[in-house]
Amino acid sequence: MTATAPALEFSTTLTSNPVPVERRSQVLANPGFGTNFTDHMVTATWTPDGWHDAELRPYAPLALDPATAVLHYAQAIFEGLKAYRRDDGSIWVFRPRANGERMLRSAARMALPELPVESFVEAIELLVRADADWVPSGGETSLYLRPFMFASEVFLGVRPAKQVTFCVIASPAGAYFASGVQPVDIWLSSDYTRAAPGGTGAVKCAGNYAASLVAQQEAIEHGCDQVCFLDAVERKWVEELGGMNLYFVHANGSIVTPELTGSILEGITRDSIITLAADRGYKVDERRISIDEWRDGVASGDITEVFACGTAAVVTPIGRLAWEGGEVSMGAEPGPVTQEIRAALLDVQYGRADDAHGWMHRIA
Ligand code: PLP
Ligand code: COI
Repeated sequence: MTATAPALEFSTTLTSNPVPVERRSQVLANPGFGTNFTDHMVTATWTPDGWHDAELRPYAPLALDPATAVLHYAQAIFEGLKAYRRDDGSIWVFRPRANGERMLRSAARMALPELPVESFVEAIELLVRADADWVPSGGETSLYLRPFMFASEVFLGVRPAKQVTFCVIASPAGAYFASGVQPVDIWLSSDYTRAAPGGTGAVKCAGNYAASLVAQQEAIEHGCDQVCFLDAVERKWVEELGGMNLYFVHANGSIVTPELTGSILEGITRDSIITLAADRGYKVDERRISIDEWRDGVASGDITEVFACGTAAVVTPIGRLAWEGGEVSMGAEPGPVTQEIRAALLDVQYGRADDAHGWMHRIA
């Protein structure tokens, strides 16, 4: 999809009241995930005559009328990507255009306006440059960027909003899972599905996450970290986790990831791993994989490793799959292929390896 809307023109208003340096240092020393935010944000407004009021400005609450459409009908989409600080102090973002393109696809599905990819990337550049001191260094830390768009029209009629807000915020990030690289446990949801044919599973709309929460809650109640969803028609094919794609490593060295059926989110990490694994000589198959193949494959030793991937989760090994009445274990330690792929991805992101595919975008 190509953007035809004209690029946005951003103005800049810097904060006169930044977070004190000591507080920022405290946050950067132990960033966690998604709880602290930087000094600035980007906002822009769309009305049927186009985008306007695009601005980098001090981070602040948004005032919303109780009748704002998004609060009622969830016409909202978001993205997630990260800025990484390298050892030489430079700051780079991973495949921002891919996120901008996915946001276009999400917008089209949710009847939201087209935001030109170049403006998406420019918004990220402006924010990361203004808040460069917020990009942590060391370990696997990063600045998590959260672009989002929502129906901000004050109207209770059910139709695409005639006023929409685009916003980008940033949050220093450490590991998404408290366990770091240790394997996480997955609960197989049998009562709930995430996405149906013709639905919104392939796009990053807010409602997908709202609908996954009760299943995620069930996962936690069963001592698991994340929930795995099967397809909504046959309840047989493995789709993905609530916020991550899946990969399976076979004993013969081949790697399989569920093919994109229209109800699975097109993860940018998933896509990158297909390339990185092939670069390393692995045979990567995108095909349907049934839940029986997962369970039986682990039991027979045919499947040796399973991992989840995503911007927030990077590459996270899966140690155990549990369901009502049973479980299989893939092992308490990350497997060698999982570790190899994880390191390959992180080495590109942190500039320790050659960026053979031109994925890294320098910002500062
Ligand atoms: N699947 C879902 C449902 C997600 O929310 C995410 C996270 O963005 C992913 C997969 C992984 O996508 P990406 O690698 O682009 O972060
Ligand atoms: C991401 O990986 O960026 C996600 O959006 C997953 C989750 C935090 C919603």
